[in-house]
Amino acid sequence: MEVDKDIYILAIESSCDETSVAVVKNGKEVLSNIVASQINSHKRFGGVVPEVASRHHVEQIIDCMQLALSEADISVEELTAVAVTQGPGLVGSLLIGVSAAKTFAWANHLPLIPVNHMAGHIYAAQIVSEMTFPLMALLVSGGHTELVYMKNHGEYEIIGETRDDAAGEAYDKVGRVMGLTYPSGKEIDELAHQGSDIYGFPRAMMKEDHYDFSFSGLKSSFINLYHNAKQREEELSIVDLSASFQQSVIDVLVSKTVKACQEYQVKQLILAGGVAANKGLKKEMEDVLAKTLPSVELIVPPLNLCGDNAAMIGAAGYTEYMKNNFGQWSLNAKPSMTL
Ligand code: KG4
Ligand code: ZN
Repeated sequence: MEVDKDIYILAIESSCDETSVAVVKNGKEVLSNIVASQINSHKRFGGVVPEVASRHHVEQIIDCMQLALSEADISVEELTAVAVTQGPGLVGSLLIGVSAAKTFAWANHLPLIPVNHMAGHIYAAQIVSEMTFPLMALLVSGGHTELVYMKNHGEYEIIGETRDDAAGEAYDKVGRVMGLTYPSGKEIDELAHQGSDIYGFPRAMMKEDHYDFSFSGLKSSFINLYHNAKQREEELSIVDLSASFQQSVIDVLVSKTVKACQEYQVKQLILAGGVAANKGLKKEMEDVLAKTLPSVELIVPPLNLCGDNAAMIGAAGYTEYMKNNFGQWSLNAKPSMTL
């Protein structure tokens, strides 16, 4: 689609436990990005409770939409389209966003753009820097661990993925064993920087000739070591445990990703998803790329764009808008949507 005017997209994200609404100009300029987190309601359960999440989304969504519009200082008449996360995610949570988006778009005669949540995580990079193709994206979140090759805007080829747990899920599970609060990725990252890798956990599939990942073996060896030590009433160092666990995750993610960048001869590498906020991962990826593939540009979105947020949905929605990929009024949530 040829455009000679600015495109203003109202974007809605409600796939998990964050209700978020943003206004994004031309796919890269964030005019507002309201994020209402429900994490305090889920912490005590050690994970996201779907029914609780849906109820919070219902309570928050209208306020978030109003706030996003007022913070962006934009009127409804100036909007070009409405983008919404269609999946993957929790069905009840997704449905709140999809229903709100459809209603708002229909009432205001605006086109509707369905967006894949994972594409949104990748497009958070577009807000930071122009995407240059071909590129590789390492998508690491609470539900996904994927290596995605992109030849062009909106074209995704998954070249590797986890065969069991996602990286973020492994962080949250070992965090729970150590008695940390959910989600524990950020805290383990901080603890890891105070300790050292003395436990030498396994690096699953690191040397194998494919781009798939596995984190359940690492999780099991961590839990076994922890429980055996507790039974023997041995003291374990939380900082060294965190450092050892984190180093194992980072070694596997970095070595497979750099190998994929080399084989696919990409110009850019994007780290995306909640785990991309990991300081150790970013540092090691930077170091290894600088040594082995200095021509590859690394893009890591800032913290507020790594976690779930609607600005990334607005950025990905812009690409779909340019490709005329609009949704029907019968649009439904797709909990298992793939890229
Ligand atoms: O992308 P995201 O916000 O939500 C999903 O779509 O899953 O990712 C959340 C995940 C959680 O598992 C959380 O523990 C992890 O990202 N996480 C981190 C860090 N910050 C958040 N993992 C490692 N290091 C971090 N600094
Ligand atoms: Zn996410």
